[in-house]
Amino acid sequence: MLSSRLSVRTLSFVAALFLVAPSLYAKTCELVLQGNDQMKYDKKELVIPKDCSDVKLVFKHVGKMPKAVMGHNVVIAKTTDISGIRTDAMNPKKAKDYIPQNDKRILAHTKLIGGGESDTVTFKKSAYKPGGDYSFFCSFPGHAGMMTGKLVVK
Ligand code: CO
Repeated sequence: MLSSRLSVRTLSFVAALFLVAPSLYAKTCELVLQGNDQMKYDKKELVIPKDCSDVKLVFKHVGKMPKAVMGHNVVIAKTTDISGIRTDAMNPKKAKDYIPQNDKRILAHTKLIGGGESDTVTFKKSAYKPGGDYSFFCSFPGHAGMMTGKLVVK
């Protein structure tokens, strides 16, 4: 009698876990972006699907030119913050590899890479508001005009 009561309790506990599980469910979504020697990304838009908890951005420089000449990175920020970040990226007192240091406006970024290299960055989707206005761009001097895209958060 005691053991059957326990097992009923155990079963309802297991059932409760299944009900709770979807909200604890972690899912890493992978985004892939390329940059090339023509100073272009291969995508104008990246989309973070709704059901992701984490986002893994894989960035690949598919060109041959070195970092010092045709360096690329991916910087993600609110679209309204990009102009200010671009200005600070050019300031050697504030930036390292054209990334302003300790800058809270930057939501995520890869390192600066040259041809044949790649870099991956993983970040939490919870830092982004669904439907918010976000962009990604390359902070290498003179590149953002050509290398900018929209980050859509579902
Ligand atoms: Co670039």
